[in-house]
Amino acid sequence: MTDPVREFYMNARDYDLISGHGVAGDVAYFSRLARGARRVLELACGTGRVTWPMARAGARVTALDLVGEMLALARERGASENTPVRRRVRLLEADMRAFALRERFPLIVIPFRAFQHLLTVEEQMDCLACCRKHLTRQGRLVINLFDPNLRILAAHMQSGLPGPVTRVETRLDGDERLIVWSSRTLSPEQQRMQDQWVVERFDAQGRSISRRLHTLTLRWCYRFEMEHLFARCGFRVLSLEGGFDGQPFTHGQEQVWTLGLA
Ligand SMILES: C[S@@+](CC[C@H](N)C(=O)[O-])C[C@H]1O[C@@H](n2cnc3c(N)ncnc32)[C@H](O)[C@@H]1O
Repeated sequence: MTDPVREFYMNARDYDLISGHGVAGDVAYFSRLARGARRVLELACGTGRVTWPMARAGARVTALDLVGEMLALARERGASENTPVRRRVRLLEADMRAFALRERFPLIVIPFRAFQHLLTVEEQMDCLACCRKHLTRQGRLVINLFDPNLRILAAHMQSGLPGPVTRVETRLDGDERLIVWSSRTLSPEQQRMQDQWVVERFDAQGRSISRRLHTLTLRWCYRFEMEHLFARCGFRVLSLEGGFDGQPFTHGQEQVWTLGLA
């Protein structure tokens, strides 16, 4: 059986067009950290959106992802970088729940909510155990999650319906168009949200040339649940911010955790 995460991300170009934008300010934030640390391990690097800027900032970056197609696009992106920057990046196909590298890093980062692909506590703990093994004694682990918005969850529970269907249209090169229809179903008992996407591509004459159905499931995580999880996995919380521009933690926005070894 194909892993649903692989199935979703193997259409790497579609992903990049639809939701490859990240969180406001995150690239500058991680680049700044990388400049200071000099050596970085990035988990679930995707198409290299954060990887290449961190390398441009002067850091040597080991970046891993589960999906070969995402890494292929990351590699392609790197072709336009100068030679010293290209040499500082190592892209690896690996699972953030089970990896073993012969190196410890002063900085490990998991940007853009990728940790929320881990749907069970066991998977989360496996990932954090790997992080622990790869962090230097004084090292920092930085993880970004979205903070679940309880107003949206409550509205969903009242109606009992999947979320409204949204439609986003993107104009592509050569006058092609991509139309994405999506709807979200929430499962509060499991703290999971499942997005269903229909992605349809049209040629310049308006003829449909491909239509794909994707499903993506993410786990939402509450603030104090994460504090317990980190403590259980041997980390101490150094800070929790509400975004990448120094904002305080606020309900329903971002969780930006900075952790050290306990
Ligand atoms: C939302 S994208 C984020 C990509 C990138 N970090 C960024 O900021 O643009 C999530 C990425 O997590 C990767 N991913 C999901 N589960 C993974 C796992 N168990 N191990 C490694 N990568 C994983 C996906 O393949 C995808 O590239």
